[in-house]
Amino acid sequence: MRQLDLSLLRAEFEAALDDYILHLDVSIDILKPMIYSLKGGGKRLRPLLLLATLEINNRQLIEYGMRTAIALEHIHTYSLIHDDLPAMDNDDLRRGNPTSHIQFNEATAILAGDALLTDAFGIIAQDDHLKAKQKVALISKLVQASGSVGMVAGQLKDIEGQNSSLSLAELNEIHYLKTGCLFNYSLEAAAIILNMEDKARKLLDRFGNAFGIAYQIHNDLMDVLGNVQVTGKHGQADAALNKATYPALIGVEESKASLNKEIKKAKIALKRLSNLTEQPYYLLETFIDYLNLDYHSH
Ligand code: IPE
Ligand code: IPE
Ligand code: MG
Ligand code: MG
Repeated sequence: MRQLDLSLLRAEFEAALDDYILHLDVSIDILKPMIYSLKGGGKRLRPLLLLATLEINNRQLIEYGMRTAIALEHIHTYSLIHDDLPAMDNDDLRRGNPTSHIQFNEATAILAGDALLTDAFGIIAQDDHLKAKQKVALISKLVQASGSVGMVAGQLKDIEGQNSSLSLAELNEIHYLKTGCLFNYSLEAAAIILNMEDKARKLLDRFGNAFGIAYQIHNDLMDVLGNVQVTGKHGQADAALNKATYPALIGVEESKASLNKEIKKAKIALKRLSNLTEQPYYLLETFIDYLNLDYHSH
């Protein structure tokens, strides 16, 4: 059976990111904190989702998505640097390493995040593999996913949700905005590059929605069940801040059941997508492995 080789795709992504960094003509003072977080051991799930979706259709299209994949990881990395700041989640550990504001200082961390965020749009704008129309679509969807109607809105609701009781619907909205939107964008970007037809786009979106929510439920659960060796972060950090999370709202067992429900939805969407397009989209199930609560190698 055909396999989606994520380790190969990952190596290609790292090489392209290294090459991008190597050619940057930037002062070392800002480059250092940018590289510290960009090369800090992320799993690269968002770029890999984009590249894998391209690979399922045509391996040669990977280079058309590579710059967008790098831009996507820039946005994700900025979001984590700012998420860890004292004014937000106040975390001193990320991926087992000191967070940016601990390693450097708060101003440097804020500015490294600003640089990563801003540069992301230039990376797509300057991509000479894509047509102007595709680049505009990629940039405007990235704005939607990450800005004031997407991730940033979710992050604010997450902070506002501390010390208050939310309904499950409100919590799902936060999860969708702060985490789901960027995962959805990974797939949407692939759809733009592939010029995918509407029916297939909708199913890909359905997979993205379920995967994104599942990913954040998993993140919430790992905060309770994991430890620093597993997550690279201090455990119980959400409870310490009185965050609205799945386990806080409905308990661990119900959260596990919700996680499984979203995983099922994600798998069904992939099955339908494979049937519709006659392409092996079920291969995206590889990403669901990251949602296994016993998965300890990251
Ligand atoms: C963590 O994301 C934060 C969320 C949005 C849930 P990842 O688990 O993708 O983080 P890294 O980049 O692999 O460390
Ligand atoms: C992070 O969510 C979401 C974004 C950075 C957009 P969390 O705060 O729940 O994730 P971790 O636990 O710090 O990785
Ligand atoms: Mg947070
Ligand atoms: Mg956090």
